[in-house]
Amino acid sequence: MLNNLLTKARSGEKIAMLTCYDATFAKLLALAGVDVLLVGDSLGMVIQGASNTLSVTMQDMIYHTRLVAKGAPASVIMTDMPAGSYEQDVETALTNAQALIAAGAHLVKIEGAGDMVATARYLVEHGVPVCAHLGFTPQSVEKLGGYKIQGKTEADAQRMLADAQAMAAAGVCMVLFEMIPAALATQITQTIAVPTIGIGAGAGCSGQVLVLQDLLGIYSGPAETLPQDYRAPRFAQNFLQQAGSVQLALQQYVEAVKTGRFPQAQHSY
Ligand code: KIV
Ligand code: NA
Repeated sequence: MLNNLLTKARSGEKIAMLTCYDATFAKLLALAGVDVLLVGDSLGMVIQGASNTLSVTMQDMIYHTRLVAKGAPASVIMTDMPAGSYEQDVETALTNAQALIAAGAHLVKIEGAGDMVATARYLVEHGVPVCAHLGFTPQSVEKLGGYKIQGKTEADAQRMLADAQAMAAAGVCMVLFEMIPAALATQITQTIAVPTIGIGAGAGCSGQVLVLQDLLGIYSGPAETLPQDYRAPRFAQNFLQQAGSVQLALQQYVEAVKTGRFPQAQHSY
C-alpha cells in the first residue's frame, strides 16, 4: 500500500493527506480518495481540547490508530509518535513505533532533525517506515516561542535543506514541512529524492495535508477558548462552506490538491 503511494508520488501525482482520528471519518476519507490518513497528535487539541500536542500519550495514539484502521482497512495510515515517546533513546523509539504499527499504522512521523536523524535511521533499519516532520514542529512550540514560520533567514533555510537531506539519507520515505516559505519548500522538494508533504508550505510540495476539522471549519480552538477568539491558521481552508456536504468537501479537497488548485498564495508564506 505504502509502496503504491510512493510510486504514484514519483510519477508526479500529488499526495492528498488529511488528519483522521476515528472510524466514521476514516471511512469517509477513504471513500473520497484521500491517499494518507494521518493520526496526528493534533488530536490533543481537536479531540481532547488541550492547547498543544504535548500531553498526548502513546495510549492515545494507539487507541486512535486502531479506530482509523478499523474504518479504513485499505488506506495508508501514518501515525504521529507523541512527545516523549521517541526522543530519549533509539530502543524506546523502536518499541513505541512498533506498537503504533501493530495498532494499524503503516508509517510513523517524528518531529525534528539533529539527534532524530539517527533515530529515523534506526527505525527504518528495523523495518519501520518513517516520515520526518520539519519546519514548525508543534511538539517544540514552547522552545520555538509560539506558532511561527520557520526557515525565513538564509542560514535557517540552509539548515532546513541540510536536515531534509540528512533525513532522506537516513532512509525516511517522506518529509513533511509545516509553515515554511513556499520557495524554500519548492527548492527542497526539487533537491531531495523522497516526496514532501506541505502544510503552510506552498504548492511546490509533492503533497498536502490539513487538519480535518480545519477543512470542515469546525475547529474553534482549545476547550477554554471562546470560538470568536480563535483565528484559523493562514494555511487552513474551509472546504465545507462551498461544498455543502462533508463528503463533497472531502472530494473537493482531494481534487484541489491533485490539480494543484490548493494551496493558493493566500495560504502560503
Ligand atoms: O498532528 C498533526 O495534525 C500534524 C499535521 C499538522 C501535519 O502533524
Ligand atoms: Na503532529
